[in-house]
Amino acid sequence: MSLAAIVVVAENGAIGKNGDLLCHLPADLKHFKNITMGHTIIMGRRTWDSLPKGALPGRKNVVITRNQHFTAPGAEVYHSLEEALEATANDGDRYILGGGMLYNEAFSLTDTLHLTLLHASFPDADTFFPEYDNSQWEEISREDHEADERNPYDYSFVELRRR
Ligand SMILES: NC(=O)c1ccc[n+]([C@@H]2O[C@H](COP(=O)([O-])OP(=O)(O)OC[C@H]3O[C@@H](n4cnc5c(N)ncnc54)[C@H](OP(=O)(O)O)[C@@H]3O)[C@@H](O)[C@H]2O)c1
Repeated sequence: MSLAAIVVVAENGAIGKNGDLLCHLPADLKHFKNITMGHTIIMGRRTWDSLPKGALPGRKNVVITRNQHFTAPGAEVYHSLEEALEATANDGDRYILGGGMLYNEAFSLTDTLHLTLLHASFPDADTFFPEYDNSQWEEISREDHEADERNPYDYSFVELRRR
């Protein structure tokens, strides 16, 4: 059983702007799907709102909100991170899907980071991944890719495990 964070993060720690992702990176969508399919994904309400087609198929979608009346078709709704983690304790692999608020709150509980490192900087972003100490994390795998006609920036898929 593992609690992982999965994120696309730029060189300056940026992850989002105006409620949306920084860029469209089709290679990451495939990577993200491979990793999360069949598992539990836990997200903040704003990230849920940003999903273009609602719940992501083939995964248990979990949304966290303080709004007691909030409903999310195709998802389970909880009102704190603790409540969500307790309710999914027997789910096997769980992935924190963001956004900034959720990554911050869950960071100390995560044992694994699935990072898609964007080799670009987004100075006007408004949402960031928490800063972390690299020496506390062991690199388990790394795949470097160059930009191509569909993916506008160089990027790396990196998996880190907490030491
Ligand atoms: N680069 C990536 O991989 C990635 C991934 C995901 C998201 N993003 C980006 O991140 C941005 C969204 O992040 P965000 O930080 O603004 O929002 P967020 O973390 O997605 O959601 C925040 C909301 O979650 C709820 N929440 C958070 N902590 C809670 C708690 N402890 N108890 C109850 N409810 C809680 C609250 O909902 P209520 O207001 O309803 O109470 C809060 O307003 C977007 O730009 C998105 O595109 C990027």
